[in-house]
Amino acid sequence: MKISVIGLGFVGLSLAVTNATKGFKTIGVDINDLKINDLKKGKPGFFEPQLNKKLKDAINSNNISFTSNFHDAINNSDITFLTVGTPPNKTGNIDLKFIKNASNQIFNELKTKKKYHLLVVKSTLSPSTTKNTILPIFKKIIQSKKMDVVVNPEFLREGFAIKDLLEPHLIVIGSYNKKSGNLLEKYYKKFYKKIPEVIQTDISSAELIKYANNAFLATKISFINSIGNICQTIPGTDVNTIAYAIGKDPRIGSLFLKAGPGFGGSCLPKDLSGLINYSKNLSKSSKLFEAVKDVNDLQPKKIIKIMEQMNISDKRKTISILGLAFKKDTDDIREAISIKIVKNLLKIGMKIKVHDPMAINNFKKIFGEKIEYSKSISSCLTNSNCCIILTEWDEYKKLKQKDFIKIMKTKNVIDARRILDPTKFKKINFAALGLGK
Ligand code: UGA
Repeated sequence: MKISVIGLGFVGLSLAVTNATKGFKTIGVDINDLKINDLKKGKPGFFEPQLNKKLKDAINSNNISFTSNFHDAINNSDITFLTVGTPPNKTGNIDLKFIKNASNQIFNELKTKKKYHLLVVKSTLSPSTTKNTILPIFKKIIQSKKMDVVVNPEFLREGFAIKDLLEPHLIVIGSYNKKSGNLLEKYYKKFYKKIPEVIQTDISSAELIKYANNAFLATKISFINSIGNICQTIPGTDVNTIAYAIGKDPRIGSLFLKAGPGFGGSCLPKDLSGLINYSKNLSKSSKLFEAVKDVNDLQPKKIIKIMEQMNISDKRKTISILGLAFKKDTDDIREAISIKIVKNLLKIGMKIKVHDPMAINNFKKIFGEKIEYSKSISSCLTNSNCCIILTEWDEYKKLKQKDFIKIMKTKNVIDARRILDPTKFKKINFAALGLGK
C-alpha cells in the first residue's frame, strides 16, 4: 500500500515519517513550498522528540518524498491521509477552508484516476462535518465505487507524537461501508506487529468520539483546578495529595489530574469550544462544557490574585516568567497560558522577563520588543520581584531555594505547575496553585 499524507503539521509529518520508517512508500504533501523545501533537507520546522531523527531515517530509506503537487501524490498512492489543520474561527467554530481546499484538489485528481483510492480523514472535525462537507465533494466518485472516505481520528499528544503513533491505545475507524473500514484496518494490521483494539463505527460517531475524548480530558483538568482553588483557601491542604488519593480509585484514574494554570495548546481549547458551539446549534444544553471552559479561562487570574496577595501589583515591579510553551517538550505556544499572563501583566505596566528552553522564538513573534528574553534561568531571575513557573520543564524541577535567594530583588516565587516541593522553599515567599497556606 502506498500512502500520501496531506497537511504536514504535527500529526501529518509525524504520521508520514513513521509510515516511511515502517517501510511504506510515503508521499508528504503540503501547499507551503518553503516547508516542502525544508523537509527535503530534513528540517521539520518545529520541535517534536524523535522527529528529527525519524525524518532523516525516512529520507535515507528513500521511502519518503515531499511535494506540493497533488497530482503526483494522489496518482502515486492508494491511501491518502488528510491531516490539514482545522483552526478555530472567531465564533469558536472550526474553520473548514483547508479541509475544503484539500478535498477539492483531491477530487480534481481522483475524477481521472482509474484505480480505487481510500481517503482517510484524520483532521479533527465536529460531528457530521464529513457527511455534510466532505462527502458531497466526492459524491460522484463514491457512487462509481472508485473511492471511499473514512474518518480515523488521531489521539496522539504533542511531545509524544512518534511514541503515540507507534503505540496507540486505540484505533477508531468511522465508515459508511464495511469495505472501506476493513481496508483501513488491513493497513493498520500491516503497520503494527500487534494491532491495538480497533473500533469500527459510523462516520459521525468517529467524529464525536474525538470531541468527547478531548472534552473529557479538559473536564478532568478543570475539575482538579477547581479542587485546587478550594485547597488554596484551606490551610494545610494540597491539591496534589487530593489528586493522588482520588486517582487511586480505578473509576477515576490518576492521569490528567495535575493542577496548573489551565490547559492550553491547539487541541483541548479548540475542541471544547467546538463542542460547546455544536451543542448550542442543536439547541441542546452545553452547560457542563461551558463550565469547563469558564474554569479554564479564570485559572490564569488565580495567579494574578496570588501576586496581589504577595503585594506585587504595581507597575514598578519586574516579573520573571519561567516557561512559555503550553506544556514541556514542545516549542508550541498556541493558546499557552503564558500569553494571557504576559498580556495581563503588560497591561498593568510591569516589566517582564521570560525564559523557555524552546519557545522563545515563537513568543517573540507575538510580543517583539515589549518584553525581555533571557537566555538562562539565572539572567531571567536577576533583580526580579517575582518569579512565576508556567511550564513544567525538567530543568525548572531542579531549581533550589538558593537559586532564587542569590539573585532576586524580592524573593517571591509562584509555582503554577506544582513542580517544586514547598517544604524545601521555607526561606522565601513561596506560593503554589492548589496549596493551602
Ligand atoms: C491533546 C490530547 O491529549 C491528545 O490525546 C489529542 O490527540 C490532542 O490533544 C489532539 O487533539 O490533537 P495535546 O494538545 O498535545 O494533546 O496536549 P495535552 O497533553 O493533552 O495537554 C493539554 C494541556 O493540558 C496542556 O496545557 C497541559 O499542560 C494541560 N494539562 C494536562 C494539565 O494542566 N493537567 C494535566 O493533568 C494534563
